[in-house]
Amino acid sequence: MSDWTDIIDGVIDHVNLLRELGERSVEIDPAVMASWGAPAPKAPPPGPASGGPASPPPAAPLFALPSAPASAPLPAAAAPALSPEARRKALAEIAARADACDACPLRQNRTCSVPGQGNPDSPDVMFIGEAPGAEEDLQGLAFVGAAGQFLTKMIQAMGYSRDEVFIANICKCRPPNNRAPQPEEMQKCLPFLREQIGIVKPKTIVLLGGTAIKGLLDTQVGVTRLQGQWTKYDSIPVMPTFHPAYILRFESCGDATGLKAAKTQVWNALKLVLAYLGKPVPAPKKA
Ligand code: URA
Repeated sequence: MSDWTDIIDGVIDHVNLLRELGERSVEIDPAVMASWGAPAPKAPPPGPASGGPASPPPAAPLFALPSAPASAPLPAAAAPALSPEARRKALAEIAARADACDACPLRQNRTCSVPGQGNPDSPDVMFIGEAPGAEEDLQGLAFVGAAGQFLTKMIQAMGYSRDEVFIANICKCRPPNNRAPQPEEMQKCLPFLREQIGIVKPKTIVLLGGTAIKGLLDTQVGVTRLQGQWTKYDSIPVMPTFHPAYILRFESCGDATGLKAAKTQVWNALKLVLAYLGKPVPAPKKA
């Protein structure tokens, strides 16, 4: 294949990806437009006067993904902010409804439902995984097993404690044998998560792995393509990255190179989140 064919295939692939992600326009560098003989675009209107409060670094979302489907109770951005007390009450009420829910078969084999936990007062980050595993199913808490221990390291490396962020899953009940949740199971359970996001109002969301990406963003584009790329859910900046269990798999099979590469990709994604939040990147802890 010629170089040109490769380039054109790459462009087509990229445009198809953008279209699948809901984009309906692309920005073209004015210099490129000028080289085509097109008129230069008008300058954007002046921004707000300087001297106001420092605005956070731009989220630089690459894609505008479709927001919550019509079935969602309230888009996160549209739900009114509640008092801290009302917020806790609303989350407890969602947890009770999720616990009583028998809309899908996952309830039959689970021990506890796992609603998610953490700081409900607009935390800097809400981490969203797939579904509870064995340990989570016993304790009723998200990410407390092996993958959870790795997530804790990720959170601490960012300079937070688990209590300072919110941690939840797409599905609130454990799928048998830790299989991935079925699309219908995710659809039944997603309204709980969407409601939680609307109440918690996190400043950013980190999606952990392909199931979280598929579920919240309603896309078939995989984690490998999306990891490390800003997108949005309602108006909340979203950073997709790999699931901690994916990283642990490299560790358990002794693939040091793969492990290092995956850890670097995840850490780079988390650093983008810190940059958006205007937080310093903590120095790595000595082993
Ligand atoms: N994996 C997840 O996706 N969520 C958990 O809570 C635990 C493991």
